[in-house]
Amino acid sequence: MTINPVFTDATPLSAVSSEEQFRDDVLVGLTAAQKFIPAKYFYDEVGSDLFEAITRQPEYYPTRTEIGILDESGADIASLLPPRANLVEFGSGSTVKVRRLLVHLTDLAAYVPVDVSESFLRSEAETLSRDFPRLSIQPVAADFTRPFTLPDGLSNSAVAGFFPGSTIGNFEPPQAAHLLAHFGRVLGRGASLVVGVDLVKDKSALDAAYDDAAGVTARFNINLLHRINRELGADFDPSAFAHRAYFAPEASRIEMHLVSLRAQQVSLAGRRFSFSEGETIHTENSYKYTVDGFRDLASQAGWNVAKSWTDGERLFSVHALTRG
Ligand code: AVJ
Repeated sequence: MTINPVFTDATPLSAVSSEEQFRDDVLVGLTAAQKFIPAKYFYDEVGSDLFEAITRQPEYYPTRTEIGILDESGADIASLLPPRANLVEFGSGSTVKVRRLLVHLTDLAAYVPVDVSESFLRSEAETLSRDFPRLSIQPVAADFTRPFTLPDGLSNSAVAGFFPGSTIGNFEPPQAAHLLAHFGRVLGRGASLVVGVDLVKDKSALDAAYDDAAGVTARFNINLLHRINRELGADFDPSAFAHRAYFAPEASRIEMHLVSLRAQQVSLAGRRFSFSEGETIHTENSYKYTVDGFRDLASQAGWNVAKSWTDGERLFSVHALTRG
C-alpha cells in the first residue's frame, strides 16, 4: 500500500488547527488552478451549529436515516462487537448515535470518544455520564486521521471502532481505504469497526439534500468566507458568492462549490486573488457508495465485512467490519 501524506505528516496536533495552518491551507487552495478550501474548515462554532441545523432539514436524509438503522438494528450490531470491548468513536461530535449502541453494550469496558475539540469532548462526556453513570468514559483529544495512542489503562479486551455519519465520504476513495487501514492499526488485533456510509441514489434526492429549500446548506458553505474574513483578515464579499452543490455521477460524489457572481479580487495575507465571473472555489466532496462498493473498499483495507444494514429505502448503510 502506498504511503498517504495524510498519515505521514508529522505536524503536531497543536498545530493542526492553528491559524497558520489555516492560512497556509487557504493560500494553497486559492493558488490552485481549480481553487479549493479543505472541507474540515467548515466547522468553526457557527459552522458546527449550521451543520446541526442541516441535519434537521427535511431534504437532508442521512442523519435521521442512520439513526433509524441504529435504532432498528442496534442490538444486532452490538452483538457483533467483541465481548467487554473498549469502544472508540472517531470524530465523536455529538453522542446521539453512539447512545443507540451503548444501550445494548452493558458490559462495555470503556467508551473512548476521539475529537479535536477538547471543550466539546468535555461537555459531551459530562451529559453522557449522567445517562450512563456506570460507563467508563475516556476522551482523547486528537485528529483521528493521524496516528494517536489509546489511553493507558484500557482493559486488555479487544477494541471496537465507531465511525458514523458518512464522514468517510469526505475522503477520496484511495484515502478512505488508507483511513480504514489506519483505524485497523489504531484499534489493534481482533478489532471490529462499525461504519456509517451514505448510498448512491437518484440524483434529484442527492442534489436536494445538499441544497435545502431553507438555504441552511448555502449558509453553511458561505460561512467559510465569513470565517476566513474573521480569522485571517481577508476581505471576501460573501454576498458576491453563491452556493452550488450537485451530484456528479461519474465520480459518484456530491461537489460543493462557491461560485463567484462577478469578476472580483480578494486580499488575504498581503496577496490578491482574482476571480472571474462564474469561477468557483471547490469546498467539499461527499462520496456516495453502493453497498457492494463500500464492502470492496473495506476488504481492500484489510477488513472482513461481517454484516451490512440499510433502511427500507436503501438511502444509507451501516457496516460491521472485523479483522483477525
Ligand atoms: C458531515 C461530511 C457527512 O457530506 O453529508 C452536509 C457534511 N456538507 N451538507 C456530508 C455536509 C453539506 C456531511 N458530512
